[in-house]
This record gives sequence, C-alpha cells and structure tokens, in this order.
Amino acid sequence: MSTFSKNIRMVIMGAPGSGKGTLTSRLLKKIPNIHSLSTGDILRKEISQNSSIGLKAKEYIARGDLLPNEFMAKIVENELNLNKWLDGKTSFLLDGFPRTIEQAKELEPVLKPHNSDINFVVELNVPPEVILDRIANRWVHSSGRVYNLQYNPPKIPFKDDITGEPLFKRPDDNPETFKVRLDKYFSELEPIRKFYESKGIYHVVKGETSDIIFPQLQALVEKQLA
Ligand code: AP5
Repeated sequence: MSTFSKNIRMVIMGAPGSGKGTLTSRLLKKIPNIHSLSTGDILRKEISQNSSIGLKAKEYIARGDLLPNEFMAKIVENELNLNKWLDGKTSFLLDGFPRTIEQAKELEPVLKPHNSDINFVVELNVPPEVILDRIANRWVHSSGRVYNLQYNPPKIPFKDDITGEPLFKRPDDNPETFKVRLDKYFSELEPIRKFYESKGIYHVVKGETSDIIFPQLQALVEKQLA
C-alpha cells in the first residue's frame, strides 16, 4: 500500500453514467486512506428505509430532477461532521456533490473553519453516446455496488458478488428520465467549472474507457498527494 505525505479533499464530477461511482471504487482500492461519500448512494439508502429524506428524494429522483441545494448541503454537512472528516488531515472524496455553483458556495463555509477546503476537483469527460450505452447495461446492488454487463459483470449473472443478493435496474435509468438528468448536468456544469478553475484546482480526465480514464485519474491524485 502507498503512503503519502499530503492529503486530498476532492470532488469527482461527471455526467450521470460517466463512471463516478465505478472510478471511485477503483481509486479507493489503490489508495485506501481516502474516505468517500456519494450523495446518490445516501439518497438511495434513505429511500430504501422510507425515511422522510427518502420520501422527498424519491419524488425528485423519479423525475430526474436535482434536490434543493440547501437540503443537499445540509445532508453533506451532517455526514462530514458525523464521520469526523473535518480535521484538516483526513483525505476524502465527494461523489455527486457539489453539482451546482450554489452547492459549491454552500460547502465553502462548512469546510473553511476546519482548514478542510476542497483542494482538488476532477471532471470525467465521457462522450454522451458512450454513456447511454453504459446505462442500458448498468445493474446495481442495494449497497451501491455497480455492475455493467459488459465492462464489469457480476461473477454470477444478476447477483451481487459479495452478498449473492439480486441486482436491479435503477428506476431513474429509464431513457426519458436519463435524458432529463443528462441535460440538467450540462446546464449546471459551466458555472461550477469556472468557480473551481478560478481556484486553480480543476482537472479534466477524458476518454471512453477505463483503460484510458483510470490511469489519468490515479496519476493526478497521486501527484496531489505526493
Ligand atoms: P447519483 O447517484 O449521483 O447519479 P448521477 O450523478 O446521475 O450518476 P450515476 O450514479 O448515474 O453515474 P456514475 O457517474 O456514478 O456512473 P457509474 O459508475 O454508475 O444521483 C442520483 C440522483 O440523486 C440525482 O439524479 C439527483 O436527483 C439526486 N442527487 C444526488 N446528488 C445530488 C446533489 N448534489 N444535488 C441535488 N440532487 C442530487 O457508471 C455507469 C455505468 O457504466 C455502470 O454500469 C458502470 O459499470 C459502467 N462503467 C463505468 N465506467 C466504465 C468504463 N470506464 N467503461 C465501461 N463501462 C463503465
């Protein structure tokens, strides 16, 4: 296992289906001392528990809409505090938050007093036609583990590798909802990209396959940590 002298507080951005969840899992296998938090996974867990957050999230997600900015910011703030990651020393990765300029601005005053500002942002830039193909083949487990029937198939068809439980299709992966989610992503991207570019911490990794994207991502993260 590699040891590093610095820490990283990173955001991974990318269109739905660009591989944020998949690449996060791969990265954490190589660099296990980074903690990760996925707002999509948090919301899906709340939905499965029928909590009040889950009931609210269900409506928005079914339409392909984003949840309100302040609501999401509060959820992330609570998780960061609960996990005790805001000590200026802990490395963490946020997958799916912030995804609007408003969310990025809400996050700043949460992190700053703890010397825990975001210091690295990476955008996964994958062509939309590749993404659409991937979504048709995506199957997931309730834990958040993601499979693709071609790229990373489960060992037993339609069963989770760890628990053996059945996999399912995400309800927001149907073509109509998916188009709304993609459009939403691209309409929010420019302002948040400029916000982080102006801080000099914005990076883009581009490509169609993990063989192209993952080594770029790993190299950038290791450089940041060295
Ligand atoms: P979230 O779960 O974050 O959804 P998303 O951003 O739409 O992203 P996805 O999970 O669809 O895709 P991914 O990029 O993680 O790709 P994956 O690794 O699965 O959020 C869901 C919803 O919650 C949102 O729509 C919104 O309503 C709400 N929400 C969440 N955060 C919010 C926020 N901050 N504010 C407001 N609302 C919020 O990969 C996709 C597929 O491709 C998989 O099958 C995978 O196996 C395959 N694959 C991945 N990489 C490769 C590769 N390199 N080559 C081939 N196949 C690959």
